[in-house]
Amino acid sequence: MKDSAAKHGDEAIISPDLLCQLAYNEKMAELGKISAGVVHELNAPLSVIISAAQMIMREEGVPDSVLEMIARISSEAQRLSHLTKGLLKFSSHDETIGETDLNITVDFILNFLNYEAARRGVIVLRQFDYTLPTIRLDTNLLKQILLNIIMNALQAMEDGCGKLLVETAAAGSDNICFIVTDNGPGIALEAIDRIFDRYFTTKRPGEGTGLGLFVTKKLVENMGGEIAVASRGGGGTTFTVTLPISR
Ligand SMILES: Nc1ncnc2c1ncn2[C@@H]1O[C@H](COP(=O)(O)OP(=O)(O)OP(=O)(O)O)[C@@H](O)[C@H]1O
Ligand SMILES: [Mg+2]
Repeated sequence: MKDSAAKHGDEAIISPDLLCQLAYNEKMAELGKISAGVVHELNAPLSVIISAAQMIMREEGVPDSVLEMIARISSEAQRLSHLTKGLLKFSSHDETIGETDLNITVDFILNFLNYEAARRGVIVLRQFDYTLPTIRLDTNLLKQILLNIIMNALQAMEDGCGKLLVETAAAGSDNICFIVTDNGPGIALEAIDRIFDRYFTTKRPGEGTGLGLFVTKKLVENMGGEIAVASRGGGGTTFTVTLPISR
C-alpha cells in the first residue's frame, strides 16, 4: 500500500486513498447501526408467524399436506428468528464473556455468511472436533475474528470455483484451534509479511480498509492466542488461530 498518512508538525496529512478508506469505514459503521435496527424490527413479525403457525398446527382436521407446509413455514421462521437474535447479540456493544463453544461459534458465522459464500459459488465444508472443551472468552470478539478471516477468504474466491474448509481441533493439551483454508489465489510472497500491518490492503480504495487482519491479530493476542498464515505457491491460503483453553 502507498504511504497513506504522514505526520507534518501537529497536523496529520491524509492522502485521498486513506480518506476514501476512512469514509467507507464510517459508512459501513453507520449502515451496521441501521441494520441492527432493521434486524430488531424483524423479531416481532417473526414471533407472530411462529405462533400463528403453531396455532394452525394445533387445529383439528387440517389436511396433512397443509400441516406439512405450515411446519415448513414454522421451521424457516424459527431459523430466521434464531439468526436475528444471534445477530442482535453480536451487534451489541456489551461484553459477552462466558464459556464459549468454538464449534457453535464457527457454525453461527458460517450460517451468517451463507449468502456471501453462495453468491460467489463457494462450497463450504466443516470439519469439527466435537470433543473440544469450551473456553472462557468474549464470544462476540471470537465471532469478529472468524468473520474477518472467513470474509477475506470468500473475497479471495470470486471465480465461482471456490472451496472453503473450516476445521476445529485440539492443539496439544492446553490449546484449541480453528483452521480456515481456501483455494483462492494465495498471498504473494512480498505481501505475506505485511498482511497484519495496519492499513495494508491489496483491495481497491473503498473495497477494503486494511484494518481487518490488524484488528484480528490484536484480538487474538489479547486472548492469549496466536495467529499464523501459510500460503501455497499455486494458490490457496490457510489461517490458523490457536487459543488457550484456560488462562
Ligand atoms: N484468504 C486470503 N487470500 C488472499 N489474500 C488474503 C487473504 N486474507 C487476507 N489477504 C490479503 O491480506 C490483505 C489484508 O487483509 P485485511 O483483512 O487486513 O484487509 P482487507 O480485507 O484488504 O480490508 P478490510 O479492512 O475491509 O478487511 C488483503 O487485502 C489481501 O491482500
Ligand atoms: Mg479483510
